[in-house]
Amino acid sequence: MFTDLKIQVPSPLTKIQHPLLDQYGIECVFKRDDLLHPWLSGNKWRKLKYTLSGATGQASSCWVSFGGCFSNHLYALAGAGQLFNKKTVGIIRGEEDPNNPTLQFLYKMGMTCHFVTREQYKKRHHIAYEQLIDKTYPGAFLIPEGGYSVAAMQGMAEVVQELEQQIDYDVLCCAVGSGTTLAGLACAQKNKKRVIGFAALKNASYLHESIQSLQREKAGCVYDYDLELDYHGGGFGRVSAEVADFTQDFVARTGITIEPIYLGKTLFGLFDKIKRGQFEAQTRIVVLHSGGLQGLAGLAYRNLFHLQR
Ligand SMILES: Cc1ncc(COP(=O)(O)O)c(C=O)c1O
Repeated sequence: MFTDLKIQVPSPLTKIQHPLLDQYGIECVFKRDDLLHPWLSGNKWRKLKYTLSGATGQASSCWVSFGGCFSNHLYALAGAGQLFNKKTVGIIRGEEDPNNPTLQFLYKMGMTCHFVTREQYKKRHHIAYEQLIDKTYPGAFLIPEGGYSVAAMQGMAEVVQELEQQIDYDVLCCAVGSGTTLAGLACAQKNKKRVIGFAALKNASYLHESIQSLQREKAGCVYDYDLELDYHGGGFGRVSAEVADFTQDFVARTGITIEPIYLGKTLFGLFDKIKRGQFEAQTRIVVLHSGGLQGLAGLAYRNLFHLQR
C-alpha cells in the first residue's frame, strides 16, 4: 500500500553544534525523521505505517481518529487519507475555527471533522461511543488518539534498525505524548542502549502503565526505559517562558527547526541533565527529531510562540 510513497528512509543524521555540548564533551546527533515527508513526518509516519497498511486498515471504509484542534496526529492522518485515497474522519476536542491553520489543512485533505466538547471527548473509549461511530461510518477503522497501538511500535522499531546501520550511540532520546514512540524504541533495543523519554504532559506518571502495557502486548515483557516527568513546561500544549527561550536559542544556534511543545521540552530537559553532569564526557546521544513542525503555525496563530528565523 505504501510502497510508491516517496518517504526518505533511512532518515539522515545531523550532528548538533552547540557550545553546551562542547563544554561537557557530549556528542548529540539528531535522527531527522522530520525530513521523512512533508505531511507524514516524524514519528507520525512511523506510527501510522503498519497501523494503516494492516489488513483491517486497508479493508476499512474510512479511517477515524481523535485529537485536539492542533493535533499533529490528525494532520498526518488527513495527509495519509489524501495520499491513499481513503476517507478520513477526525473527532476533534474543541471548536471549529476557519482560521486555525491545522484545521484548514485537515479540510484541504478532505477530512470530515466532528467537533466535540471536552466531556464528550472523554467518552471516546466507551463502547457506546465506538458503536455510534460504527453506526455513522459503517466499516470504519478506529485509530486511537496519538496512534497508540502495538502496530505503531513496529514502525518505531525501524528507527532503531536504521540507527544500527548508521551510528554507534550510547543513549537514544525522544519526546513523549501517548508513550507509543518510547515504548517502540525501547522494545526494539537488541543492543540495550539507554532510552530516555521526556513527557510533554504534566502529572504523566500514568504513562508508565501505557508504555508497559504496549510492551507486554508486543514482547511479553517490559524493556528498560527512563521517563522524565519534570520537563513538561507547564503541561500539554503549553510553552513556558524558559522552554520558549530555549527553543529560540536552540534553533538560532543549530539552524535546525524544532517546535517547543514536544522537542523543545525534550532538548531543554536533555540539556538540563547534561548540565547536572548526568552523562559522562564522550557520551554519544541520539535525539529523535519527531517532527510536529506544522504545530508552529498554530502556536503563532494563538500568539503562544513565534519562532524567529
Ligand atoms: C512532534 C511529536 N513528537 C513526539 C510525540 C510523542 O509521541 P508519542 O505519542 O508516541 O509518545 C508526538 C505525539 O504524537 C508528536 O506530535
